[in-house]
Amino acid sequence: MIAIRGATTVEHDCAEEIKVAVGELLCEIRRENKLSDDKIVCIMFSNTSDLKSYYPAKAARESGFCSCALFSSLEPEIDNSLGKCIRVMLIVEKCGKPKHIYLNGAKSLRSDLTEKFAIALDGPAGSGKSTVSAIIAEKLNILCLDTGAMYRACALKCIECGISPEDEAKVAGIIDDIDIKVKYSDGKQITYLDGADVSVDIRKPEISMIASKVSALKCVRTKMVDLQRQIASENSCILDGRDIGTNVLPNAKYKFFLTASAEVRAKRRFDENVSKGYDEPYAEILEEIKKRDMQDMSRKIAPLKKAEDAVEIDTSDMTVDEVVNKIISLIQVKI
Ligand code: DC
Repeated sequence: MIAIRGATTVEHDCAEEIKVAVGELLCEIRRENKLSDDKIVCIMFSNTSDLKSYYPAKAARESGFCSCALFSSLEPEIDNSLGKCIRVMLIVEKCGKPKHIYLNGAKSLRSDLTEKFAIALDGPAGSGKSTVSAIIAEKLNILCLDTGAMYRACALKCIECGISPEDEAKVAGIIDDIDIKVKYSDGKQITYLDGADVSVDIRKPEISMIASKVSALKCVRTKMVDLQRQIASENSCILDGRDIGTNVLPNAKYKFFLTASAEVRAKRRFDENVSKGYDEPYAEILEEIKKRDMQDMSRKIAPLKKAEDAVEIDTSDMTVDEVVNKIISLIQVKI
């Protein structure tokens, strides 16, 4: 006999979701291990204490796993553990190597078993990319890489060195030695420029336009894209930017392109600025957003563009939660 392990997550503590997730997990284990029902001796489940709506064992029986012993138990509450998670162990009469199966957010539990995957989230300024990608990353327990922050750090470096972001020769002179790193603290990205945490400074309104200009330069893009690809090759992650689906990771498993009218995006940026204490009139923000769109879309290298295979979502009339749920549901369908 051998033991086969698996786990999955659900979005909500809801009976229907638990039933579907358990059914999917067991069917996948059965398929991948080429198991017939008479070979399954018993199935044992545990679930995190935030799932109270349904017994996974009952869900298994209802999914047709009736001829074996079934058992569910509750896990203790562990700080910072993956939430809404259902774990399973099957004891089966089978020889050979077991294939353990981890689905949805539970993929992160056994990254040694599961392939790394990337979600490309592109779109113009203010379309909601950063907010949405941070929440998705938390839900799926994957890394979130805000690639705009890297171009913003390059813009800051140009300002510090007194270099025009349009002077390619001079920018090329500093870009080789630029030291940009991203680290994570409590899941939040901290951006470092030459060893200093610049996460707050790069968000100042005056940086946006310079970042857009400097990001059009080949020397800058080559360096930043290398860094982004390296991070994506080491982690399952969601990257938000302008050219992730078209250029940085054209083979990303999931691609989304967020849009919203310029007016809605300007209002979002205005509200964000107010909350941070920056005082810039709405009309100016709107003007700048339109100009930046034009600049980002019309540059020669890797312009802002929807990848052909990306799913476009107009977020103008959607709440953040609605956008997040839509993306998660599309990802789960594709997984
Ligand atoms: O997303 P953001 O506003 O922080 O990005 C700032 C600028 O950086 C944006 O105007 C264009 C550039 N950028 C880019 O060219 N490619 C990316 N992947 C991300 C941002």
